[in-house]
Amino acid sequence: MSIMLLILLQLVLVSCAPPRCHPGFPGLCKPTVEEKPKCTDVLLSYCDDMPYTQTMFPNILGHKTREDAEAGTEYLLLSVAESLLGGACSPEIRMLGCSVLAPRCEKEKVLKPCRTACEAVQKKCSHAFEAIEMAWPYFLDCDRFFVGEQEGCFDPLEGLSAAQDVDAFSSMEALPAEDPVSTIQFPYHSNAQMISTLKKTEEQCSDIARTYSIGRSMEGKELLVIEFSNNPGQHELLEPEVKYVGNMHGNEVVGRQLLIYLAQYLCSEYQLGNERIQTLINTTRIHILPSMNPDGYEVAVSGVQDNSYGDDEESQGHRYDTWNVGRNNAQNIDLNRNFPDLTSVVYNRRRQKGYRTDHIPIPDSYWFGKVAPETYAVMKWIRSIPFVLSANFHGGDLVVAYPYDLSKHPLGHNMLSLTPDHQVFKFLARTYADTHETMSNENARCGSSHTHSEKGTINGAQWSSFAGSMQDFSYLHTNCFEVTVELGCEKFPPQEELLNSWYENHEALITFMEAAHRGIKGIVKDEEGNGIKGARISVRGIRHDITTAENGDYWRLLTPGTHIVTASALGYTRAVKKVFLPPRMHTAGRVDFVLQKAAVEPDMQEESDAILSLGSYDHFDPYNQYGHYILTADVSQNREERAEKPWWWSYFVQPGGPAPTWLLKHH
Ligand SMILES: *[C@@H]1O[C@H](CO)[C@@H](O)[C@H](O)[C@H]1NC(C)=O
Repeated sequence: MSIMLLILLQLVLVSCAPPRCHPGFPGLCKPTVEEKPKCTDVLLSYCDDMPYTQTMFPNILGHKTREDAEAGTEYLLLSVAESLLGGACSPEIRMLGCSVLAPRCEKEKVLKPCRTACEAVQKKCSHAFEAIEMAWPYFLDCDRFFVGEQEGCFDPLEGLSAAQDVDAFSSMEALPAEDPVSTIQFPYHSNAQMISTLKKTEEQCSDIARTYSIGRSMEGKELLVIEFSNNPGQHELLEPEVKYVGNMHGNEVVGRQLLIYLAQYLCSEYQLGNERIQTLINTTRIHILPSMNPDGYEVAVSGVQDNSYGDDEESQGHRYDTWNVGRNNAQNIDLNRNFPDLTSVVYNRRRQKGYRTDHIPIPDSYWFGKVAPETYAVMKWIRSIPFVLSANFHGGDLVVAYPYDLSKHPLGHNMLSLTPDHQVFKFLARTYADTHETMSNENARCGSSHTHSEKGTINGAQWSSFAGSMQDFSYLHTNCFEVTVELGCEKFPPQEELLNSWYENHEALITFMEAAHRGIKGIVKDEEGNGIKGARISVRGIRHDITTAENGDYWRLLTPGTHIVTASALGYTRAVKKVFLPPRMHTAGRVDFVLQKAAVEPDMQEESDAILSLGSYDHFDPYNQYGHYILTADVSQNREERAEKPWWWSYFVQPGGPAPTWLLKHH
């Protein structure tokens, strides 16, 4: 009884008097009057490089203790931000987050971080989050948790700014400067870094650049194209369109990097007033797909990493084995064998009188085989834009290969297998090889092409025959002339060699695009002056017609000399012109045609062939086999699941905890 009283008494005493600790009565140590929060040391290990040492709990997000803050998804995100974002925006994102989770404390008062600092980081870094399809984290909301100068804010990046000034140029990859090339960095880009670099370039050059997606890889990665034009997003009458495609084989990576640099180079040179680049972009629509096989690239990167331990015999052998790791897509399909084999169709037609080698429809049977999503996306893309010229960048040799890739001899036999446009292809291949630093030099050759190559160019079939290549498909199915550029013997060279590759190729990359302006171009119109879509431009002696685009405009690459050119369209009379192209002409000759209406004669054999073939030409996956296949394919089910939630999602879901849906973009 007396003990009870004593305790009660003490309790009363404690609640009135200032708290005093009594080792004998631990329960009495706690003050009943709420203590004013005090500054305490920043003990969060991911925040130990902040420019201050004291913080206070509860923090700005309401975490009452350090343990609370550490257990939250916010802190987890900060701890992995660097690797999630592929190194982008590090350490800015982490430090910005720390300024909210463990804000500065001075004289027992919490200071909030400055809004201006937050806004600058958000502007610079939102692309990095977009690239991994993550929403901008709610706790980095500049309006909610950050304040203006007048409220006495602190700059969370204070310690960084000095260091940053030094490398501001190298981190702003495409920032114009005296020598823009020196400001472009040449490291390998992860898929996320590639996407964010392309988007940054688009932002920096928003009046001449635009990014767009042509679809997704098997594992759901975006196939992102960057386009350059003085009018991005639109086809302009008479303006030729060119494209560059890289990394079709995931382990052939130099082209991918060169195309990322090329995009930055085009942007910064245009802004600096480089007249040649301005003229090119003002007169040409350029599309660049740096990676057609981002899934394979990831596999190749891990293969190279596995490989980089020691140089003994064993690892040499290992290296040899991994020569092709990452080449194929996630379904193990070689994309450069996966296009419809129209070359065989043409070889089968050879004995027919007046057979043609253009606009060959895709055989229905093709759709019953395995069609990779990457192939499908590229086919749709190249059918939707009137491309004139294209190059596809590979590695493993140093040569430009031109069509056909499939030998006319069924057993291969290194047989020269030429297209009707051999003169043009030879010219195009030479254009690249001759302007490349070393390619046309016999001493520089490497790889297996050398027995048949000629000054850095080779006929694909004569080198090594195979069916289903992209360049054969482009030539036989569309108006586009495409070559395959092999950029060097090493498919995945050390990073230090990339700068040199850029120097070796950058002149060739520009000169080749300019070649889209060779030959003739013009408009085919009816008598009322309306452009005729789908009219045929035929050149005497070349069994390969070009067709006109939406508004009747066409481009016909030709070598210098005299050409007899015919324009024809169903329901019109044909028109013929004789054209002379002088040897040193570097712009397309303008040749327009006006066609008169005519009754369709039943015996116009050629035209009705044309209708027939054009009829089925419009068929693209007519039975929706691809759609069916992709839904039933095992891998794609993974993809579907993953498409619902991004790949990083499971990392943040803690058992029993609330799902951090604020990380999701479309929540
Ligand atoms: C390209 O077009 C832009 C915008 O119309 C113009 O300012 C620039 O002078 C042009 N450059 C060249 C070299 O034609």
